Amino acid sequence: MTTDYAMLARQLDALCDGETDVLAISANFVSLLYAELEDINWLGIYVRRGAELVLGPFQGRPACVHIPLGQGVCGSAAADDRTMRVDDVHQFDGHIACDPASNSELVVPLRNEGGVFGVLDIDSPSHARFSAADQAGVEMLCEKFSRSIAGKPRAAEGFI
Ligand code: SME
Repeated sequence: MTTDYAMLARQLDALCDGETDVLAISANFVSLLYAELEDINWLGIYVRRGAELVLGPFQGRPACVHIPLGQGVCGSAAADDRTMRVDDVHQFDGHIACDPASNSELVVPLRNEGGVFGVLDIDSPSHARFSAADQAGVEMLCEKFSRSIAGKPRAAEGFI
């Protein structure tokens, strides 16, 4: 399957245009991707708070709330500051299973001037759902998202 990431970038721009509320932008970013990406069952943001990640805006089934940095796919991506593209999560040592339907996963760090402030996590029920092109496209959207919220007032103390 081929996703038009350039079109998603334009849609994200439109959602951010003139908006200053970080929580609202984050919620719409997650909703846009969940609506437009095919064959996924969970998509959301985990926010870094000290030595752990905490669940933020997401779409899908209820998920684990606290993930220590360095643990699971999300905690590894955040601790190492690198994208994790996992074709079979059941082969990933330390994978944290939130939805048993998930078989592959893409986790992209979210960065600001202070470093990694969170991750975007996407789960799919299919094995090897995410290609190198998906990784590049989602990384581009995450950079755009991070830029769009940089310097804007926080919706609530401690959120992003
Ligand atoms: N599988 C993730 C946990 C988060 S859920 O997939 C929503 C992990 O191993 O970090």
